[in-house]
Amino acid sequence: MKYQEYGLVNTNATFQDAIINRYAIGAFNFYNLETFAAILGAARQSHSPIILAVSESALKYMGDDILMSMIGASHITPDERITLHLDHGHSFDACKHAIDLGFSSVMIDASNLSFDENVKISAMVAEYAHQHNVSTEAELGTLRGQEDENTFSDTELYTNPADVYDFVSQTNVDSLAVAIGTSHGAYKMKSPTQELRFDILANIMDLLPNFPLVLHGASSVPSHLVQTINENGGDIKNALGIPVQQLQRATTTNICKINVDTDSRLAFTAAIRETFNNKPDVFNPREYLGAAMHAVYENTLDEIINIMGSANRLA
Ligand code: G3H
Ligand code: 13P
Ligand code: ZN
Repeated sequence: MKYQEYGLVNTNATFQDAIINRYAIGAFNFYNLETFAAILGAARQSHSPIILAVSESALKYMGDDILMSMIGASHITPDERITLHLDHGHSFDACKHAIDLGFSSVMIDASNLSFDENVKISAMVAEYAHQHNVSTEAELGTLRGQEDENTFSDTELYTNPADVYDFVSQTNVDSLAVAIGTSHGAYKMKSPTQELRFDILANIMDLLPNFPLVLHGASSVPSHLVQTINENGGDIKNALGIPVQQLQRATTTNICKINVDTDSRLAFTAAIRETFNNKPDVFNPREYLGAAMHAVYENTLDEIINIMGSANRLA
């Protein structure tokens, strides 16, 4: 089915509005009914555009039919500016599959390949996507940390501004994920005062005026969630995210998509650990999954309002 039949939109108009009005759209990953309902509910409550992000492994976990049934059952309308996005597609086939299913946006992540290989595969995806009016994101530079369940990079490789113009003009992609010091997962910063490389970002923006840029690995790792997990039997003591002020600063630049997965995972886990610890007699999954869903909803709502600045942006 075409994404338009689900009431979804691609990211083109949304990103231009975000650049002009200096806010960002949250791309929140989901993988089950609870995270889906929580994220969609928070977007609707705050009248915010939203990007519903599904990784390849999350798609495999949910299954095509369950995912698209949840989307269909949500009665989404174009004025809600909701995008269904494939996060970190690693092949042309993965992106094509998502487009054919009804995704309105895809990311082709070939950032671990050579520049020329990355250009080749990203251009192929953009061409197919554009035949279906689907927007395409690609990545240049490698983020530290866990890129997905299968890829781990521990070297720090920032995006080289000298490459961005050629990459975008040769691939025709609609947005570009840049590496300026963020990383996936819960252990991002060496200290709370560490700064993202806004100087690199400024150089990229000079070379690509008004072009939508994307920040991956951008969870803020809220300390109250880390504390709740650690106080209830967890062990993630050194978890440290991107400081909220730096994310807020990023939203005022051409960064118009900010990716969040870890924060939702932390909220979900904190609520379950707390429920189990406080109520050892509970064995009804709806009780602890309900608490987890509510915790993801609250965190997403908070980040939409206080980090993305995207609340009340629907026309
Ligand atoms: O950036 C990667 C996302 O956090 C997705 O992770 O492949 O475990 O769903 P996942
Ligand atoms: P976090 O691990 O910081 O939440 O990053 C998520 C992400 O980039 C998904 O693509
Ligand atoms: Zn990512």
